[in-house]
Amino acid sequence: MEKESLLKITVLPNGPLKVEGKVELTLADGSKKERENPFLCRCGASKNKPFCDGTHAKIGFKD
Ligand code: FES
Repeated sequence: MEKESLLKITVLPNGPLKVEGKVELTLADGSKKERENPFLCRCGASKNKPFCDGTHAKIGFKD
């Protein structure tokens, strides 16, 4: 039996979601990616969605 793990998700001010833990993400094309401690885009401008690529700072994203 697989052990369940807890995730901690923090909303970074004017930036991405900081996820602490191991997650499996389903992308828009249906493929899956497993990542540990990803930063997820919240501004919608990342060129590497669903991951943050730092574009939020360049476009002046404010939440
Ligand atoms: S939150 Fe960082 S690129 Fe969107």
